[in-house]
Amino acid sequence: MEPKYKRVIIKLSGEALAGNAGHGIDTPTIETICRQIKEVFELGVEIAIVVGGGNFWRGRSGEGMDKSTADYMGMLATCINALGLQDVLEEMGVPVRVQTAIEMKQIAEPYIRRKAIRHLEKRRIVIFAAGTGNPFFTTDTTAALRAAEIDAEIILLAKSIDAVYDSDPLINPNAKRYTELSYIDVLNKGLKVMDSTATSLCMDNHIPILVFGLNEPENILRAVMGEKIGTIVQEV
Ligand code: GTP
Repeated sequence: MEPKYKRVIIKLSGEALAGNAGHGIDTPTIETICRQIKEVFELGVEIAIVVGGGNFWRGRSGEGMDKSTADYMGMLATCINALGLQDVLEEMGVPVRVQTAIEMKQIAEPYIRRKAIRHLEKRRIVIFAAGTGNPFFTTDTTAALRAAEIDAEIILLAKSIDAVYDSDPLINPNAKRYTELSYIDVLNKGLKVMDSTATSLCMDNHIPILVFGLNEPENILRAVMGEKIGTIVQEV
């Protein structure tokens, strides 16, 4: 079976790396995720990863703090996660290049679009760290922006929840689960798939978003193979 996509962006939340601890990086958890990514990589899929930083710092942790400062702290948190992912993937034999949107040359390459594409073509995974480099933008928006820049066919939005619902299924047992949504539905219904900036950017650039749960082993693989899991947000 051939993978459905040739080039994808995988968006991982920082929390996904924390496992049950809910904070920091949990080794067995990050290894499980990286094993899945490696499996997909070995199918020949070009993979770029955008990672969040919520396992170390969330913008809202800085309540009462200057919003830009809190966001810059979050961007630094994404760099910690990017280096963690790089280390685990390389330990598994997968070549990785980290590129940061804010220059920190001693630690990683700066983000250069053409170089990122070249890395993908040379069969390396590229991890985009430090968000967009700007406060007031989320890592979901980073995923949308980078997907547009590198011509990724889809954003695989790996979450702790298995799909998009109209309300929190943990609170409301009758929450409606969606299998397909349009961008406009997401925006109009105020669904918390991605923030509105990220959703609009995907809408304007015709980039589909597949939301699925990371808890299920093999889900990244299933997503890349085009199996109908989670919720797809696209033009309908
Ligand atoms: P090619 O040019 O395609 O051969 O790619 P490459 O990434 O293997 O070559 P390059 O010589 O650019 O990089 C070699 C190593 O240095 C890689 O691990 C890069 O991630 C790293 N590297 C390259 N540029 C920088 C940088 O500006 N800062 C840091 N910290 N590392 C860098």
